[in-house]
Amino acid sequence: MRNPQPAIPDFLYGTAWKEDRTAALTELAIRSGFRAIDTANQRKHYFEAAVGEGLASAYRAGLVTRADLFLQTKFTYQDGQDHRLPYDPAATLSVQVAQSMASSLEHLCTDHVDSFVLHGPASNSHWTTDDFETWQAMIKERDAGRTRLLGVSNISLAQLQQMARAHAEPPAFVQNRCYAVRGWDRDVRAFCRERNIIYQGFSLLTANRQVLGHPTIAALAAEINATTAQLIFAFSRQIGMLPLTGTSSAEHMQQDLASLQITLAPDAVRTIESIAG
Ligand SMILES: NC(=O)c1ccc[n+]([C@@H]2O[C@H](COP(=O)([O-])OP(=O)(O)OC[C@H]3O[C@@H](n4cnc5c(N)ncnc54)[C@H](OP(=O)(O)O)[C@@H]3O)[C@@H](O)[C@H]2O)c1
Repeated sequence: MRNPQPAIPDFLYGTAWKEDRTAALTELAIRSGFRAIDTANQRKHYFEAAVGEGLASAYRAGLVTRADLFLQTKFTYQDGQDHRLPYDPAATLSVQVAQSMASSLEHLCTDHVDSFVLHGPASNSHWTTDDFETWQAMIKERDAGRTRLLGVSNISLAQLQQMARAHAEPPAFVQNRCYAVRGWDRDVRAFCRERNIIYQGFSLLTANRQVLGHPTIAALAAEINATTAQLIFAFSRQIGMLPLTGTSSAEHMQQDLASLQITLAPDAVRTIESIAG
């Protein structure tokens, strides 16, 4: 085991869009060596109760205990949900946050998660009064010991700046879709770096298919005998990101974890960082 009591993990296994395969793939990810699992209490895209079943199988098989794992879930506003809500939509946001967390803990068969993330601000343009109330409620969950850390996802630099002005408490994590054409979310990453916020990058492969097919990327990968996917995961880590992978393939799970052993030359990092934006 790489990290018996993970404070902050080095790779997150994402459980979105796996439906009936969620439990088996969660267990397979743990069997393969992942020790950090990302989910959300948003039945539209995630099957959190099945993630809990996968965890239970892994515990029964003696692969890990709860203490070996980093579990991350999310609170999702009603706008991002379908009819399968984990809270009473008529309740205040503070109550919705508490209900969503209680339901996540039940799904995941635990008394605390390691990270609780706001899935996205209420508006695309700014940090709203709803976000203010929700973040305060999330802090209460943290103070009550139901999560160790807090995060925010799908957030712009302007919203992060507004959030920083509105709250004394910054997030521990920002989780964003990472586009190479935006310098791999350069501005948000810089904001995070200055404040010791850990940047979690998702869709590193799927949002950047053109970059992955670029001859320079292929050549850099070939030079170190790695796949382009491994090159991108190694690159992401070297620029300070905590990457997510949502692979459903046992082989890709192994390859993704093997990228932890890759160290790129500074020139290669600079080339990849500036390849598209
Ligand atoms: N906060 C949010 O709003 C949000 C949004 C989206 C996702 N997420 C989180 O991020 C996780 C990951 O999502 P994602 O969008 O990054 O990925 P994803 O959509 O789950 O897909 C990863 C893709 O990359 C491929 N892949 C992975 N490793 C590979 C390898 N070594 N070689 C070749 N192909 C490889 C996979 O194919 P194979 O299955 O064939 O390997 C799959 O097509 C989600 O499960 C979720 O937990 C969060």
